[in-house]
Amino acid sequence: MGNVTILVGAQWGDEGKGKWIDILADKVHIVARYQGGNNAGHTLYVNGQKVVLHQIPSGIFHPEKTSALSTGVVVNPHQLVEEMQKVRPFVELTPERLWLSARAHVISPWHIYLDSKKEQESTQPIGTTKRGIGPTYAEKANRTGLRLGDYVTKSRRDRWYQLMRESAPAFDAQWKVQAQDWEQFEAAAERLAPFVVDAEQKLRQAIKRGDQVLLEGAQGVLLDINHGTYPYVTSSETAAGGAFASLGFGPKFVNKIYGVAKAYVTRVGEGPFPTELKDEVGQHIAQVGKEFGATTGRPRRCGWLDAVALRYSADLCGYDGIIFNKMDILTGLQEIKVCVAYEHPELGRLDTFPWDLETLAACKPVYKTFAGWTEELPHGGRIHDLPRHARAYVEGVQEILGYPITMVGTGVNRQDALFA
Ligand code: GDP
Ligand code: IMO
Ligand code: MG
Repeated sequence: MGNVTILVGAQWGDEGKGKWIDILADKVHIVARYQGGNNAGHTLYVNGQKVVLHQIPSGIFHPEKTSALSTGVVVNPHQLVEEMQKVRPFVELTPERLWLSARAHVISPWHIYLDSKKEQESTQPIGTTKRGIGPTYAEKANRTGLRLGDYVTKSRRDRWYQLMRESAPAFDAQWKVQAQDWEQFEAAAERLAPFVVDAEQKLRQAIKRGDQVLLEGAQGVLLDINHGTYPYVTSSETAAGGAFASLGFGPKFVNKIYGVAKAYVTRVGEGPFPTELKDEVGQHIAQVGKEFGATTGRPRRCGWLDAVALRYSADLCGYDGIIFNKMDILTGLQEIKVCVAYEHPELGRLDTFPWDLETLAACKPVYKTFAGWTEELPHGGRIHDLPRHARAYVEGVQEILGYPITMVGTGVNRQDALFA
């Protein structure tokens, strides 16, 4: 049995990964992120105080645990320095406790500029977070990227600026426009330098000696660059398999893989969303669920649970358990629907998630209806303790999916967690 646990977002992001990593971190030695950047916004509550983390792993508030950003992640240095300041009142940050991979690629003001420009000029914008994520991964694949280990060394950073000047004619002009951003970018290098290490080597050593390691996914499986609703996806591998390639370790070390799913669905940005509710039920879920982006503040689109999409996500990652989150938000609804199949005008009934957007966009959901409940859901205890109709909903969803629901979320706090 392995000692690595992977937790990913099972839908289109914002499922509540931050809260669940904070809960599960209690039992591990190290929490690491392996993809994405500060496009992520992971919310957790520390002693009743709300904290949103964009880059630092959500286990950071447990004293004695190590946090790591491994390669596969893209790092915004200035924003990371600010985030480190934000967590300092709660925790002591030392190079022993926070490992930043020298191999991780760096997001610069140039990449942020390119992301915004592309979104503004495109006739079909993706609805990105405009954090420079896509251009940074593109640069990495193009082999002209800047790695954190090189960034923190002035001469190597300068060499990269030179490379950019040669390959991108607008680079210098843009530098002048974004002068303050570049100053901050420069200043962050010294602050981060003590934390930059061969994080993958250290992680592999820890895994080998049997330390418990928890890997925190960002975004969601349906935003995966390979398997998601391309091109309305992010630029990294969000499915669980991405962890092996990005962080660099053998799959045999994995013990459990969890997918966090909301008991309904939300999506930020553009792209097809078959169960989207544009009516008052959708507005109700958005309002009660406080569905506004933790990174950009944008309203999240809301809809019924899509079991076709969730089964696809589960098949892609092989979940040992689904964490069914934010169930409390559905309390008070008269009835609750689950999409069990799609109906396509030409192809008929579809039970699997189509690869192309046109097909997906034309799909109408086929719903199974469950009775709602009015009782307040328990804050702690067992899934079995749920009120009758809420339990029937969980059991019904499990049956439709063919995957077990092993944990249920009923509130924003650490203790609002039910276990099988
Ligand atoms: P993440 O990106 O997956 O970490 O999720 P976000 O932090 O972006 O969004 C999840 C939101 O739901 C946050 O505001 C959390 O505080 C909140 N949340 C998490 N779990 C629960 C839950 O079980 N019930 C309720 N009501 N809110 C939750
Ligand atoms: P967490 O980790 C929800 C979405 C954006 C956009 C698409 C591409 O908090 O769940 P990008 O800036 O990555 O190039 O944008 O991906 N997106 C997210 N949606 N939660 C996130 O992160 C997201 N990160 C990116 O809205 O549709
Ligand atoms: Mg989020």
